[in-house]
Amino acid sequence: MAQRVLITAGAAGIGREFAHAFAANGARVFVCDIDERALARIGEEIPGLITRRCDLSLRSEIERMVPEAVAALGGLDVLINNGGIAGMTLPVEQYPPDDWDKVIAVNLTAMFDVTRLAIPHLKQSPAASIINMSSIAGRYGFPNRSPYAASKWGVIGFTKTLAMELGAWGIRANAIAPGAVAGERIERVFAGRAQLSGRSLEEVRAEAMAQQSIKGTIDPRDIAQLAVFLASDAAKSISGQVIPIDNDRQRA
Ligand SMILES: NC(=O)c1ccc[n+]([C@@H]2O[C@H](COP(=O)([O-])OP(=O)(O)OC[C@H]3O[C@@H](n4cnc5c(N)ncnc54)[C@H](O)[C@@H]3O)[C@@H](O)[C@H]2O)c1
Repeated sequence: MAQRVLITAGAAGIGREFAHAFAANGARVFVCDIDERALARIGEEIPGLITRRCDLSLRSEIERMVPEAVAALGGLDVLINNGGIAGMTLPVEQYPPDDWDKVIAVNLTAMFDVTRLAIPHLKQSPAASIINMSSIAGRYGFPNRSPYAASKWGVIGFTKTLAMELGAWGIRANAIAPGAVAGERIERVFAGRAQLSGRSLEEVRAEAMAQQSIKGTIDPRDIAQLAVFLASDAAKSISGQVIPIDNDRQRA
C-alpha cells in the first residue's frame, strides 16, 4: 500500500522537496501551508498532491487540518513536522516578546498539536513514523536567535519523548538537524548577521564556511532523501535519533 504522508508547511523550501521526494516514491501526499499561492504552485507540480491552507500558529486551524488530512489520505503512515520560522536576529535583551511567542508557537507548539492529533491515526498504521525538523540550532547555542535555538532544542526533547512513548505501537520518531541549506532562508540569515555585526556579507559567509568540514550549503533534495529513508522499512530500527545533515559543522 502507498505510504500516506502529511507534511506541514510543505509548499516551499525543504517541505516542497519532501513532497516531491515522497510523491516520486509512490506515496500519497498531503501538504498544508499558510501560503495559498505556493500551495497552488506545488499542486500543479505534483499530480495527485492534496493541499490545504493552514496557519500553524493557530491551534484552531490545526485542529481542523489534521482530521481533514487523515480523511483525504485514508489514514496516516508518515508525519513530517516541517513547519518552522526563523524569527528575528537580535540579542535576548532586545528580542520582542511577541516575536518570541510566534516562533515558539510555529516551531514547537504546532508540532505538539499536529502530533497529538495524528497519533491515534498513526497507531492504526502498519509502519508509522514521525520526522521532526530540528536544526544545527538544536545542537549548539545560536547567538541572536534565541527563540529559534530554544525551539529547535525543544524539538529534540519532544522527538526523543515521542519515540519512548510510541515505540510500543511500532511508531518511530526521529529528528533531522540540517545546517545551512541552499535557498533564500540562509541568505536572509547571513544578511541579518551582517547587519547586526556591521560586517560584510562575504565575511559572514566565510566565517560560516570556516566552521564546516565540507565547504558549501546543503542541497534540500538530500534532506528529502534522508526523510524518505527514515520513513522506510530500511530504517525500521532507527528511532529517537537526531540526524544532522550539516556538512560536518562543528560549532555555531
Ligand atoms: N533552510 C535552512 O537553512 C534550515 C536549516 C535547518 C533547519 N531548517 C528547518 O527546516 C524547516 C523548513 O525550513 P525552510 O527553510 O524550508 O522554510 P521556508 O522559510 O522556506 O518556509 C517553508 C514554508 O513554511 C511556510 N510557513 C511559514 N509560516 C507558516 C505558518 N505559520 N503556517 C504554515 N506554514 C507556514 C511558508 O509559507 C513556506 O511555504 C523549518 O523547520 C526550519 O527551521 C531550515
